[in-house]
Amino acid sequence: MRFYFHLLGIILTSLFFTNCGETNADTPLVPTDTIPRLKTNFTNAFTIGAALNEAQILETDQVGASLIKKEFNTITPENNMKWMYIHPTLDSFNFSICDQYVEFGRKNNMHIVGHALLWHSQIAEYMNEVKDSALMASYIDQHIRKVAGHYKGKIDTWDVVNEALNEDGTFRESNFFKVMGPSYLEQAFRTAAEVDPTATLIYNDYNMWKPEKRAGAVKLVKNLQEKGIKIDGVGMQAHWSLIGPDLKDVENSILAYAELGVKVMFTELDVTALPNPWELEGAEVSQNFEGSPFMDPYPDGLPDSMQVKLAERYSDIFNLFLKHQDKISRVTFWGVNDGGSWLNNWPIENRTNHPLFFDRNYLPKPAYHKVMNLNQPKN
Ligand code: G3I
Repeated sequence: MRFYFHLLGIILTSLFFTNCGETNADTPLVPTDTIPRLKTNFTNAFTIGAALNEAQILETDQVGASLIKKEFNTITPENNMKWMYIHPTLDSFNFSICDQYVEFGRKNNMHIVGHALLWHSQIAEYMNEVKDSALMASYIDQHIRKVAGHYKGKIDTWDVVNEALNEDGTFRESNFFKVMGPSYLEQAFRTAAEVDPTATLIYNDYNMWKPEKRAGAVKLVKNLQEKGIKIDGVGMQAHWSLIGPDLKDVENSILAYAELGVKVMFTELDVTALPNPWELEGAEVSQNFEGSPFMDPYPDGLPDSMQVKLAERYSDIFNLFLKHQDKISRVTFWGVNDGGSWLNNWPIENRTNHPLFFDRNYLPKPAYHKVMNLNQPKN
């Protein structure tokens, strides 16, 4: 039975991909692709993108790479550009996969995002051992000069600093902050602007809709601006669910950030379709929940009723984005299809989540079609 489902998936996928005369990942976009795609549909509003994993960057996932070229006009590397991979030891840099990532974007005329120059997570171990502020400053300087310098003129937008704030808007006690205080952030933006003056520089974080965190982010941006340090945008990650956040809070944040004169970007959008252990009253993420059918209810596919809910949620989200399209420059999904989403392994490992527009066979889901219909050119 499973085999036949798989076979049906392959047939449907190839039908979707042959629809526009493109069956091969090496085939460039051809003008015969007259089918509306995400990037063409929203061309007057904002760029629309996806985070790429290594197989997509290297095009060993040919179906995924082909889909990315058709649907998206901006890309972000999901993991490969993070400090622990690109700068694993003090004197070594691994640029090869990221070079291919940049090449992928350039060949396909895409807006290329660099993620991320400074993040406390997925950082090389030697950075966690630094205790001296001058040494830390010199390591940050070296990292940004080497990485942003290597891609000068090629990376269009840098996530300069990622996730520097706590939920209450105070600074996160990362090793950067413990050793240098908030000056590490100023140094990062100052150096990035110096190294590549034409790149768009943003601060990126999750839960940027929360009023307390919003106040912290506003303060952070204002502080840089008052010191004459270049910051061009705020990235709201947007790892959301079917029920939260309240889009009123999201809207208030869009307005607050735009008020500062910077662009707003939705940088890591996905909508989990699974129960969240933290929403269960009084429940701990215990061994008992892990792997239980209760926490992993759709291992064989998302039922129609849930597809409708996901489509409605995405439709509400995109209606808000369209309403504020003058303030929003980019919307990026955190992944391409459901099978590759990080949400299959977080906050519980090995679940089957369905958070994106494309299913495990790379076929567009009802959410995709509903959102595409929001902004179809009127005849
Ligand atoms: O590379 C190793 C591989 O060698 C090993 O075999 C495998 C076994 O688990 O792990 C691989 O590393 C994983 C890595 O992704 C690359 O696939 C890590 O375990 C895993 O923890 C890591 O997760 C990434 C996560 O950041 C790390 O914090 C997710 O893929 C990535 O989607 C996620 O992205 C972050 C953004 O950068 C920042 N905002 C939040 C977002 C979601 O957490």
